[in-house]
This record gives sequence, C-alpha cells and structure tokens, in this order.
Amino acid sequence: MLSARGARIAVGVPGPQDRGFALYAADPFDRERNPEVREAAPGAAGSRRGSAAQCPLFQGIVNLGTSENRLCFDLIEERLTRPDMNCLEPDLFQYPDTQGARSFREEIAKFLTDYTRAPEELRPEHVSNEESHPFQLTVEKLEAAIQRAKEQGIRVRILVLINPNNPVGDIYPAQLLKECLEFAHRHELHVIMDEIYMLSVYDDITFTSVLSLDSLPDPERTHFMWGFSKDFGMSGIRVGVLHTQNHEIQKAVNQLAVFHGCPGPVQHVLSQLLKDRDWLDNVFFPTNKKRLKEAQNLLVDGLADIGIPVLKSSGGLFVWADFRKFLKSPTFEAELELWQKLLDKKLLISPGKAFYCYEPGWFRLVFSDSVDKIYLCIERLQQMLHTDDAKPVVNNTSSTADSSCSPEEDSSGTPSNTPQDDASQLKNILVF
Ligand SMILES: Cc1ncc(COP(=O)(O)O)c(C=O)c1O
Repeated sequence: MLSARGARIAVGVPGPQDRGFALYAADPFDRERNPEVREAAPGAAGSRRGSAAQCPLFQGIVNLGTSENRLCFDLIEERLTRPDMNCLEPDLFQYPDTQGARSFREEIAKFLTDYTRAPEELRPEHVSNEESHPFQLTVEKLEAAIQRAKEQGIRVRILVLINPNNPVGDIYPAQLLKECLEFAHRHELHVIMDEIYMLSVYDDITFTSVLSLDSLPDPERTHFMWGFSKDFGMSGIRVGVLHTQNHEIQKAVNQLAVFHGCPGPVQHVLSQLLKDRDWLDNVFFPTNKKRLKEAQNLLVDGLADIGIPVLKSSGGLFVWADFRKFLKSPTFEAELELWQKLLDKKLLISPGKAFYCYEPGWFRLVFSDSVDKIYLCIERLQQMLHTDDAKPVVNNTSSTADSSCSPEEDSSGTPSNTPQDDASQLKNILVF
C-alpha cells in the first residue's frame, strides 16, 4: 500500500511522448532483427530509393523522436576498448564521495574550462538581437511572460535556458545571453543554464557558454548543467554535471546524490575519455560534428523534397519542422491526431505540444541517426502525408518562410583547447 505521495509519484503524468517511446521500445526498427518487409505491389506509391513497385509494410518503429546521438558509437566503442579503460583499483568499488571522485571532478573542471572557453580555470569545487523566427528568445518575451505570471498570482523563481536550444536548435548570441542573465538578476530569479548540447554545434557559429563570461550579474543564482548523454552520445551511461557557486544548493544536491551517485568504474572510464585531448580534438569531436552536419543535411533535404520546411538550426540533434499544412485544423487535437497517425505507421517524432509550443503543427525530428533510418523516415512521411486523407488542408506558413533552413556544406573545426591544471579545490563539482 503506497502513501498518498507514493501513489502520486507512481501514477506520474505520462504524455504522448512516453506512450510513443514505450511502443518503440517494444517494436524498434532494426535493419537485421526487425527489417521492413516489402511486398511487390505494382503501382504502389514510390520510395526515394527506386523501389516504386514495392509496398513497404512499415515494420518496426523508426524513432526520430528521442534526442539521442547514434552517429559515433563506433568511435566510442573503439576508445572504450583500449587498455587504459580497465581499472580495478579498490577505491573505485568502495563508497564514493557523493559529489563524485576528486580525480573525476578535476578532469571535468579541466574539460569544461577548455571547451567552454572559460576566462579562468573552473574550480572543481564549483562543478557538483534580432528576431529571425517566431520562436526566437528575446528579453521582451521574458518580461512579458513574467508580467503575465505575476498577474496570475504565480511566483516565478527560476529561469531555465537551454543553449543550444532544445527543440529549436538555436544558439544564443553572447549579447542575448547577457541580457537574459541581467533580466533574471532584475527579477531575483535563479538561472539554470542547460548546456547539454554545447559541443553538438555543427554550423560555423560561435557558441558562448555561460562559463566563458568574464562576469555574471548574479553568480550565486547562476547554475550550469552539462552531461555525457548528447555530446558523447552516451545517454545510457546516466552521468551529468552541475557547476554552481551556491553552497546551499551544493549541500542540498549532495544530499540527494547519496542515492544517485555515479559508480567508481564509470567515473574512471569517463575520466580517461576527458583527458585524452588528442582523441577528443582530432578524432571524436571533428568526426561527430561532420556526421551531425551530414545527417542534418540529409533530413532537411528529404523533408524539403516532400514539402516540409524546417527552421534553420545550428546546434542540437534535431530540426524543428513545420507540419502545419498537414493538420486537419489548426488545433493541438489535430496535431496529436497527426502524431498518432504517424506512430500507427511506425514513425515516432515529437509533437510541439510536448515542448509547450504555443502554435499547433510543429514537430521535432532527431537526425543523429543512420542514413537508412533517415531515408525510412522520409519514405514513411511521404507515404502517409501524401495519401488522399492527409493532403495539406491548412496553409499557414508565412511567418517562418524566410527563416527556413537550406542545408549547407559541412565545415569542421574544434573548440580551442588550452589545457589548464587546477586540482586545488573540488567542493563545487557535483556529479550525478
Ligand atoms: C535540454 C536537455 N537537457 C537535459 C536532458 C537530459 O539528459 P540526460 O538525462 O540523458 O542526461 C535532455 C535530454 O533530452 C535535454 O534535451
């Protein structure tokens, strides 16, 4: 028998995303184990790859809904099988420092110092414009939102900024970032800077980490988060990092971390990855960036072929695509209906409603996957959206036409790397 609180937690609030993921987990598309079956069907609608007389039976769900980087496992696999990964030191198997092992937090501090281009070395103890499209962040929008909240009697305490943004893929210019921090300071808000995609930037655009700023309007209320899930494509390893100078928050998170500590052997493996700068700078990050750009081009091109524009994006693992003209009506009910219809045909993407989008008809599609899955996605969309019962009915795309993405050539390049050494202080790096 659960307590009332336990019962509330157990019930949760599963949204369509969770339902979609559960269906995918039960029936994932897999080239070998669960391939798509094709039947000869003369006259059937054509596919992109010359099988015009074949009718796909849509077996196995193609998942472009989950924000995961599946492009570089070959590199990670090769690196993880080198001898330095094997370490059976006793302290890795004993009760750890709940903040994370000292050596791991030192490596993280050095890594973040270099890759966020921090003006000064980060202390391991701190680790525990112009509007071009309708979804672009501006301080005016933040001011309006806080005003609305006040009028409704809601006390706002925190501003969460995701940079590079999920789901839009925007990268905030330094000036906007500073203005947002000043806005938060004016209203005495804490700021969580979620920079989990900070190294998944595939365009030649400068990414400004909050950690690279010379000074912060309110350092005690500014907190930085990052993790291994996206930039290293290791969402299964479940390791994240909090950098905060706020001692009260450090203490509170440390208490929670008693039940969420990171296993010693995992910390060892990740430390080895972070300290291998030659591999990071010359193999992993350049290859990852190149593959992200290629995959993004492939998906954007394919969507353009079937009449789906996307907003221009520069970072993250996804594009924000405009399906408004395929909705039966401009409502979230119609958006959910379209989402369900795609899922019934074994294609999982993410509806805008899941991201609190104010306008129905926007979907997030993840491109960091193999070429064949991206082709299958386009093929399935083509089949479903261009059949008679799903012909475009609403045409309402004017506001974003100018900002749609046209794919560009890849250009590689890595963040500057000036290794620094600071093992002196550890208290503020929290690993969870
Ligand atoms: C912006 C953002 N922050 C945080 C996370 C959480 O990542 P994880 O729990 O895998 O570390 C995600 C995952 O999709 C994300 O998109």
